[in-house]
Amino acid sequence: MKLKTMTMEWTGDELILIDQRKIPLVEEYVSCKSYKEVAVAIKDMVVRGAPAIGASAAFGYVLGAREMFVEDFNAFVKKMEEVKEVLANTRPTAVNLFWALNRMEDSLKKYGKIEGVLEYLEEEAMNIAKEDIEVNKAIGRYGAELLKDGDTVLTHCNAGALATVDYGTALGVIRAAVEQGKKIKVFADETRPYLQGARLTAWELMKDGIDVTLISDNMSGWSMKLGKINAVIVGADRVAANGDVANKIGTYMVAVLAKRHGIPFYVAAPTSTIDLNTKTGKDIPIEERKHTEVTHCGGKQIAPDGVKVFNPAFDVTDAELVTAIITEKGVVYPPYEENLKKLFEE
Ligand code: MRU
Repeated sequence: MKLKTMTMEWTGDELILIDQRKIPLVEEYVSCKSYKEVAVAIKDMVVRGAPAIGASAAFGYVLGAREMFVEDFNAFVKKMEEVKEVLANTRPTAVNLFWALNRMEDSLKKYGKIEGVLEYLEEEAMNIAKEDIEVNKAIGRYGAELLKDGDTVLTHCNAGALATVDYGTALGVIRAAVEQGKKIKVFADETRPYLQGARLTAWELMKDGIDVTLISDNMSGWSMKLGKINAVIVGADRVAANGDVANKIGTYMVAVLAKRHGIPFYVAAPTSTIDLNTKTGKDIPIEERKHTEVTHCGGKQIAPDGVKVFNPAFDVTDAELVTAIITEKGVVYPPYEENLKKLFEE
């Protein structure tokens, strides 16, 4: 079984990831041949973005299954708990990671026998990856209806092809609108400190010939005030049951600004990012990352030695600031508590 996109390649024996730490200066690839190598790639952000992390972890689980294989099914299931634990212990905020690992574990338990189990798990990981592409295209179709010809969309971080198996969520909406023939322009926030907007969003949109203008994060408010922005679309790492949205640090600030300027603020996210077990944004674990991400920029120190630093990788945007959540099952409007639940009832 094989799969190849810009973000990842599953060759049947290894998971090859484009090294997202190095884009746009060089295009290099990291090959993962063991589940521990996949865990390191997720932790070190070779691969990032909630759905891409989920799919990578699923392939990591397959590699782990090959490493842990024993003839006794129950012993095998037990050994796979360790694989799941190592892969889960990489990044805490994006729920797609846990969603994908739980799906792999549930499938393993349901399969219930040792004969053919490795092939079965590989097929399930492949399903997760292929479904992600289909889901993003559906998000794109629903979301594109919200955009008019000539709109300029502000986005934050990278919720594009690179953050998913392919096509993207927030950038998928933009791609779909462009495919429908609409002229859409994008303003990309650079997204300090990790610069996913400057490095990744700008790169992948330019590659597709989509009109993108890069701004630094402190320019979004002024751009809105000047009337340059018609809509904001971002991705999500976890949507709580009440509609609170965890996404890249700085998203909350953009949402507040959008409200101030009467600009719609949309979140594009697959249902695998919606976590009804997390009641509100307060219950979402927010990853804190190393201080050098803030004290340094492009490998160069920009702050005094020893300065105190706070570096949360994500923030939570209150549901009341979110105009709508675009999913593969349709566009969800408030009241979120009620309407998000309905997505899982059909
Ligand atoms: O720290 P990152 O780069 O993994 O954060 C990514 C984001 O915050 C994305 O917006 C989110 O995962 C949605 S990706 C479709």
